[in-house]
Amino acid sequence: MIMNVLILGSGGREHAFAWRMRISKHLNNLFIAPGNAGTAMLGTNIPISPTDFQALKSFCLNNDVDMIVVGPEVPLVRGVYDFFRDDEDICHIAVIGPSQEGAQLEGSKDFAKGFMSRHNIPTAQYKTIKLGNIEDGNRFLESLQPPYVLKADGLAAGKGVLIINDINEAKRLLWEMLNGMFGVASNKVVIEEFLKGIECSVFVLTDGKSYKILPVAKDYKRIGEGDTGLNTGGMGAVSPVSFVDAEFMEKVERQIVLPTVNGIRKEKIDYKGFIFLGLINVDGEPKVIEYNVRMGDPETEVVLPLVKSDLLDLFIGVFTETLESKTLEIDDRFAATVMMVSGGYPGNYEKGKVISGIKQIKDSIVFHAGTLLNDDNVVTSGGRVLAVTSYGQTMNDALENSYKNIEKISFENSYYRRDIGFDLR
Ligand code: AMP
Ligand code: GLY
Repeated sequence: MIMNVLILGSGGREHAFAWRMRISKHLNNLFIAPGNAGTAMLGTNIPISPTDFQALKSFCLNNDVDMIVVGPEVPLVRGVYDFFRDDEDICHIAVIGPSQEGAQLEGSKDFAKGFMSRHNIPTAQYKTIKLGNIEDGNRFLESLQPPYVLKADGLAAGKGVLIINDINEAKRLLWEMLNGMFGVASNKVVIEEFLKGIECSVFVLTDGKSYKILPVAKDYKRIGEGDTGLNTGGMGAVSPVSFVDAEFMEKVERQIVLPTVNGIRKEKIDYKGFIFLGLINVDGEPKVIEYNVRMGDPETEVVLPLVKSDLLDLFIGVFTETLESKTLEIDDRFAATVMMVSGGYPGNYEKGKVISGIKQIKDSIVFHAGTLLNDDNVVTSGGRVLAVTSYGQTMNDALENSYKNIEKISFENSYYRRDIGFDLR
């Protein structure tokens, strides 16, 4: 089968998808909406927003697109899968991603917690609060030990989780959230027990019946070394993860992956895409911190380089519900990625800085995250700019390689963390 494929999104994750698909025996034309300077080297960027479904429909019909691979969560939560499935002109186009109902696993923390409790999936104790029962919320907070975890129910661009030490501050912020601190996203707030442990990300590809587990990754979200300072979209990642051994993975599969996929099937949720399990290891026991319904970024920039199987072949298996018959072949090396960001990020930063040195890199893969082509120059166009990924026989070898190469790249005011993987050494 030879296909024309459209990727939705514009970050390092989407560049990594494009890079992996480029070598697929099933690929004919590759389009990326809207893409970046990196994806432009592998396919054709098209200036359409991933949430403009009508424009996507016209483009797909005019260009004989056979498959859409959805990078970010917003189009999924807004129902891009359903939009294509329910229109007879375009229902032949395979959309890799869950239906709007399935996307609630990420789009509503309350839905996700309810799902986990229906299927006995280990996670933090919780209570969902609306303005009408704020008193129950205050009482629940008093029953917990600090710190207190407050989560906006809806999507809040990664900013909707507050972790607070003081009980009175927690009560005040609960009130603020319910009164519009994150807009409608915090009309409902999930209060959670705080879990202590080390986190990792497990990615599952499912056709709604069977599944494949991809390599485990760990990302580094804070801007500062030693995991300090503000949260970012992610400053680096490694895969696999040293503390995730066979015993832990067996628990993840039995206690979390299986009941999640079975739950999706039992609840008749249409789900043909990725499940991203944000896990925490609490004294050797895995618990779910969050579900996402897409791949992670920058985790994709280390996970996909380790997937040796033809990615489009796996996606064909997903759409035709024959994933079980496909084999997933994994590279036995390590992969690491280090993110180069604009000075000032995640606060204010300047864009349009000319980037030099990328072409000199031979033994790392430079994934573009926030770049644009300006005449013949690659310029910065976002906070996270480039993800430099390397392989190694050990995690340290992979990291060393990325650090050696990142030094060859420059743009004004660039910054990167020098300690990715520090806690796993
Ligand atoms: P989320 O947006 O759900 O990924 O939450 C953001 C971050 O907050 C997570 O990556 C965790 O580091 C932290 N977090 C969320 N929920 C909890 C919890 N129940 N206990 C401890 N940390 C948490
Ligand atoms: N790296 C975390 C995420 O993609 O949400």
